[in-house]
Amino acid sequence: MRSSTTGIDRHTVGTYASQVENMASSDPLTHPHSAVITGASSGIGKALAFELAARGYALGLASRRIARLEELRDALHATHPGVKVELAELDVDQVDTVKACLADLFTRMGGADIVVVNAGVNRFTRVGRDELADELQILQTNVLGAVATIQAASAYFLSRGRGQLVGISSLAAENAIPKQAAYCASKAALSMYLDIARMELSRKGIGVTTILPGFVETEIMEDIGKYPFAVSAEKAATEIANIIERGAAVGVVPAFPWKYVKPFFKVIPDAVYRKLK
Ligand SMILES: NC(=O)c1ccc[n+]([C@@H]2O[C@H](COP(=O)([O-])OP(=O)(O)OC[C@H]3O[C@@H](n4cnc5c(N)ncnc54)[C@H](OP(=O)(O)O)[C@@H]3O)[C@@H](O)[C@H]2O)c1
Repeated sequence: MRSSTTGIDRHTVGTYASQVENMASSDPLTHPHSAVITGASSGIGKALAFELAARGYALGLASRRIARLEELRDALHATHPGVKVELAELDVDQVDTVKACLADLFTRMGGADIVVVNAGVNRFTRVGRDELADELQILQTNVLGAVATIQAASAYFLSRGRGQLVGISSLAAENAIPKQAAYCASKAALSMYLDIARMELSRKGIGVTTILPGFVETEIMEDIGKYPFAVSAEKAATEIANIIERGAAVGVVPAFPWKYVKPFFKVIPDAVYRKLK
C-alpha cells in the first residue's frame, strides 16, 4: 500500500514513514520530502534528480560543475513545473569545506530529509606502475570526500533526530577486479563505513542505506555499457529511488540479475574477473 501523500510503502518502511509524519508536526517543510544529491551534475546523480523530482521531492543538487547543475535545474523545471531545486558548488575533495557548504544548502532548502552520498570517480589504475597520483585521487574523492559528506549529513540529522543517509557504493566493494585496486578498495571502505554508521545511527532515528550498483552507463568510464548487465542511468535511478523509499539497509542495482549472482562472488574464479578489462 502506498500513501497518497508520501508515496512511501508503509508495510516496508514503517519507521521511515513515521519519521516523515513526525516531520510534518515538528519541522514543517514546503515539500513532503527533500533530498540532497552530491555528484548530481551527471550520470546516476542526475538521473536520480529527475526520478525524485517526478516523485515530488524538493532537491538540493551539489557538484563542482555549477553550469551543469544550472542546466539540470532548468531541465527539471521544464519537465516538472513547481519542483523546488537549490544548487551548491561543492568539491568533496576539499573536505574542510563540505560541512559548511551542505549546511548552507540545507538552510536554503528549508530542511533536508535525505542525503545521497553519490559523488565519485573511477579510472583504470595498475599496481606498481607509477600510478599513485591517480589512485590517491580515487581514494580522496570516494573515501575522504564521502566520509566528509557522511559526517556533515549525520551531524545535521542527529541535530534533528531523523533523516536518511544513502551511500552510493558499488558491487566493486565486494569483488577484486584487475586495474581497479584503488576503486574497489575505495568502495569497500565506503561500504564498511556505512555499515558502522548504520549501527551507530539506527537508534537515533536515522536510516542508512547502502546502494551497490553493478555497471551503469554514465560518464564515469568509457564504454561502461559493454560490461555485463549494464543498465541506463535512468533504470538505475528508478531502482535506487525504490530502495530509498523502502528504507532498505542495502540494495543491489539492477536487482536482476545481481542479487542472484552476488552470493557467488567469492567462489567465481579469478580468471572470470581478469576478463573484465
Ligand atoms: N557507473 C557505474 O557503473 C557505477 C557503478 C557502481 C557505482 N557507481 C558510483 O556511482 C556514483 C556516481 O557515478 P556515475 O557513474 O554517475 O559517474 P559520473 O557520471 O561520472 O558522475 C560522477 C559525479 O560525481 C561528481 N564528482 C566527482 N568528483 C567530485 C568532487 N570532488 N566533488 C563533488 N562532486 C564530484 C561529478 O560532478 P562534478 O564533476 O561536476 O563535480 C559527477 O556529478 C559514483 O560514486 C560511482 O562510484 C557507478
